[in-house]
Amino acid sequence: MSRKTYEPKEAPTLSPEVRVDQPREASKAERVEIDRPSFKDWMDLRLGWYGFVRKNLDEPMPPGVGWWQTLGNLLMTLLIFQFVTGFALAMFYTPSAEGAHASVKHITYEVGAGTFVRGLHVWGSTVIVIVTALHLLRVFFWGSYKKPRELTWIVGVIIFQIILGFSFTGYLLPWDQKAYWATVVGTRIAATIPVVGHMMLVLIRGGEEVGALTLTRFFSLHVMLLPASLLVVAGLHMFLVRKHHIAGPVVPQKGKPVPFYPDQLFKDAIVLVVGVGLLVYLAVGLPPSLEAIADPTGTDFSPRPEWYFLGLYELLKIMPTGFEVVATAIIPGLITIGMFALPWLDRSKSRHPGKRQWVIMMGMAVILLIGLLTLKGLLDTPPEHKKAPTNVEAMR
Ligand code: HEM
Repeated sequence: MSRKTYEPKEAPTLSPEVRVDQPREASKAERVEIDRPSFKDWMDLRLGWYGFVRKNLDEPMPPGVGWWQTLGNLLMTLLIFQFVTGFALAMFYTPSAEGAHASVKHITYEVGAGTFVRGLHVWGSTVIVIVTALHLLRVFFWGSYKKPRELTWIVGVIIFQIILGFSFTGYLLPWDQKAYWATVVGTRIAATIPVVGHMMLVLIRGGEEVGALTLTRFFSLHVMLLPASLLVVAGLHMFLVRKHHIAGPVVPQKGKPVPFYPDQLFKDAIVLVVGVGLLVYLAVGLPPSLEAIADPTGTDFSPRPEWYFLGLYELLKIMPTGFEVVATAIIPGLITIGMFALPWLDRSKSRHPGKRQWVIMMGMAVILLIGLLTLKGLLDTPPEHKKAPTNVEAMR
């Protein structure tokens, strides 16, 4: 094959100044580039990654976009941390009722940097829930779920459920008293659902009681189904965010769109350093605890769910006997349906909060309800090993 002629189809990205409409003789410098491309060009010809990076750096940002739009990328970084630390922990973890507690003890007290990695993972889940909530609230108050971003919002709501699923299943894995009794109460919630409740309880627990099969099920959900689902939906979310671009401020500002790089990327980097710094500070300063091994026969342990489920738990405690389903299924179910349907419930054309008063009021009411109940739960959390309130005792 003659290699004398410059073939534009094969190497159009190598030298942009070359006219690609007419084949012509390649210059000496171009011949060297074509025959011996740099590593960057070699990879780019095969993957096209440079164009992809460039496209993302040039992503147009409407004027007025700023610090509030940094939370999405912070979330993505925290999720990567969570995957990496989770993988490291899984290399030492034993997913069985006999071995789980001992393996977490081994990670915590014997494996080099084990406490730190566990701290990053445990605190990471808390920080992710907070940042997800802030990101969700930003999108809610800015009305960014409106056309054409309805699907971006719906996928976001699914992501939120998956993140809560991660926390719920991960909480059981150390197989200590705290983990065991929180899961007993948490899974019992399913049984209060009319008709299918008991069937669901058995399905989740792998039997009537929380035991070895519950741990195996939660482990496989935590390390297989949930990560795989999150990768798919988070990928879809990013695709949709790029396709429709970011919505600008609620009142459009004058000016031209600016590229993501350098201004917005700089803001993202600052928030990222602060967010990751806080996570490291928490992991070092407040290392995660490990309580005594789960004892299903014990009756003196007070079940305490993770703080972000405390609101739901408090709601359950104040419900009169016979009305538990209101707290466990009806109220959370209505809030979830409301979140999914939000883009269609809010039919106003404007994204301005002043023009969406009833939606903002409903949102504030839900935030207030969850906030106050969580606060009550935090203040009410009994000292460890204190007897649980009777209503909850019945839920075991
Ligand atoms: C894994 C978790 C998530 C990641 C990595 C993520 C990532 C992002 C990123 C990078 C952006 C663009 C920058 C920004 O607005 O901050 C964005 C925008 C958006 N996100 Fe998320 N997000 C996540 C969860 C959620 C959740 C839970 C919701 C809502 C329930 C949501 C709804 C939206 C919407 C509607 C937009 C478009 C906002 C606009 O155009 O102004 N996201 N997301």
